[in-house]
Amino acid sequence: MKELLYLNKYLLKYKWHFLFGILFVVGSNYFGVLIPQEIREALDFVNNEIQKYKGLDPTQKSSEYSILSRVLMTFSLTVVGFALLKGFFMFMMRQTIIVMSRLIEYDLRKDLFHKLLTLDTKFFKINKTGDIMARMSEDISKVRMYLGPALLYGINIVALFTFTIYTMFSVNAELSFYALLPLPFLSISIFLVSKMINKRSTVIQAQLSKLTSISQETYSGIRVVKSYAKEDSFVKYFAEECDDYKEKSLDLARINAYFFPFMIFFISLSTLIVIYVGGLKVEAGTISPGNIAEFIIYVNMLTWPVTSIGWIASLVQQAAASQERLNYLFNQTSEIKEGNPHTNFGNGDIVFENVSFSYPETGIKALDDVSFRIKVGERVAVIGRTASGKSTIAELLLRMYDPDQGRITINGEDIKSFSFEELRSLVGYVPQDVFLFSDTISQNIALGANQNIEASRIAQYAQYAGIRDEINDLDDGFETKIGERGVTLSGGQKQRVSIARALATESKIIILDDSLSAVDPSTEQKILNYLDSELEGKTSIIITHRVTTLDNLDKVLVLEDGKIVENGSPDSLIKDEDGYYFKMVQQLNARYEN
Ligand SMILES: Nc1ncnc2c1ncn2[C@@H]1O[C@H](COP(=O)(O)OP(=O)(O)O)[C@@H](O)[C@H]1O
Ligand SMILES: [Mg+2]
Repeated sequence: MKELLYLNKYLLKYKWHFLFGILFVVGSNYFGVLIPQEIREALDFVNNEIQKYKGLDPTQKSSEYSILSRVLMTFSLTVVGFALLKGFFMFMMRQTIIVMSRLIEYDLRKDLFHKLLTLDTKFFKINKTGDIMARMSEDISKVRMYLGPALLYGINIVALFTFTIYTMFSVNAELSFYALLPLPFLSISIFLVSKMINKRSTVIQAQLSKLTSISQETYSGIRVVKSYAKEDSFVKYFAEECDDYKEKSLDLARINAYFFPFMIFFISLSTLIVIYVGGLKVEAGTISPGNIAEFIIYVNMLTWPVTSIGWIASLVQQAAASQERLNYLFNQTSEIKEGNPHTNFGNGDIVFENVSFSYPETGIKALDDVSFRIKVGERVAVIGRTASGKSTIAELLLRMYDPDQGRITINGEDIKSFSFEELRSLVGYVPQDVFLFSDTISQNIALGANQNIEASRIAQYAQYAGIRDEINDLDDGFETKIGERGVTLSGGQKQRVSIARALATESKIIILDDSLSAVDPSTEQKILNYLDSELEGKTSIIITHRVTTLDNLDKVLVLEDGKIVENGSPDSLIKDEDGYYFKMVQQLNARYEN
């Protein structure tokens, strides 16, 4: 339960909602308890009148009748009045406490989203997206059930019990005791039933999410399913899982069916006791017949809340479990801490000093004692086979991870001392696996740019990236929506939009990580020519395993198994006939000759 304490700061934030909510709950119960008392008085009044009539003659009777009806009318109006007041307060208590729970739900979700965005890459590698999504949606909803209904009905029960039981005992302690006797049993049995219900609901929930993910995956992979003509086996598999779901749901329905019989049994028991014990007491003259009616109403008023104790308890339990899962996220801290903003950190040479790095999730040593220097304005190619560590260099430079050993400096200062925003605005990065958001193309390009970048600039960068004409050919041009509900771009088109995005940041350092791999060689050459002029004076790091990209370079770094094996100008590297660079160039020439 202590997990839920985390929510106190939100309750404090909305303390007025909460306090007024409590006040309204108390108000509604105060008027609720007055109603049976009115009814008791009315009944006793009628009873007395009837006794009186016996000795009266007809004229006296009719005048008594008119008094009786007037008094009864007053009683009825009073009851209606109390009921209206009770209803008004109930409306107000929902308006405060349930509204509060919605506000906190919103805050919680917003805070969690913000928190997650501050976490580092490692966190997102370890925690699956689906799991994080479930926490954002389902767990927060469960917590809201605690903040809303559970708190509301919890407070309601306390208020109702206090008022009702106080009134009952002030009428007659013994009768109250007997009348209330079955209620704890009701509460316990409902609690047990709800526990069984919960256990089954959880299983059903899990099965339901399994069904969801099966269908989601099937639809996502629909082309594979169809091309292998596997529709039938998928249908069969799905049907089996659905069957399982059905069995589990029927099981739950059976348990649910116990709920009402239990309840009715215990209320009837209470009512019987009230009538029997109450009857004896009326005979003995300790209470009035009206008290019996009053008690029956009390017992009925208490039944639902007593039943709901079990429900509330399970809501609180579930919320605590969910909050524990949320607290896990809230307590995460990024191992990568940002530095303070520098006002001036120049263009900066990039220096790797004896950098080693292993991926924490797999322990794979991706970089091993890597040292190099890139001067301002240089054009550098990083080449090497796949898995040689090329992309890792870019990730470390952007501080997606921090090196295990050694350090990386820009302008002589450790990059750890820069703020993230500063560092990342310094570098325009096109990651190897490009990602575009479900938004317009122009929004995607403008992502890292100045807020009010002009459309003409966006078009300009698209041109540098060799994609402008293709975008203009689309029906909505730059305003074309891409992604799930929009146009699907080809791999090469995505890469080029991604390059335009990096250029639009107008950063001083540009890193292209295999960003032209899905582009045909002639387009690639065209783009590189554009980039040549656009990137004049900027530092550019081109990561590639293709040598067509390698014109006009100042420097080439060759990586192998995380180590730098060649480092120098293309002219010097070409002399090493055993070298990787030499072989790549040779292969390229051979291809051109064929
Ligand atoms: N996110 C990651 N988690 C774990 N291991 C990784 C990750 N990214 C890369 N690696 C491993 O690190 C090594 C270097 O990868 P990478 O830098 O991507 O190479 P390249 O870009 O040259 O293909 C590879 O062995 C790869 O499997
Ligand atoms: Mg790579």
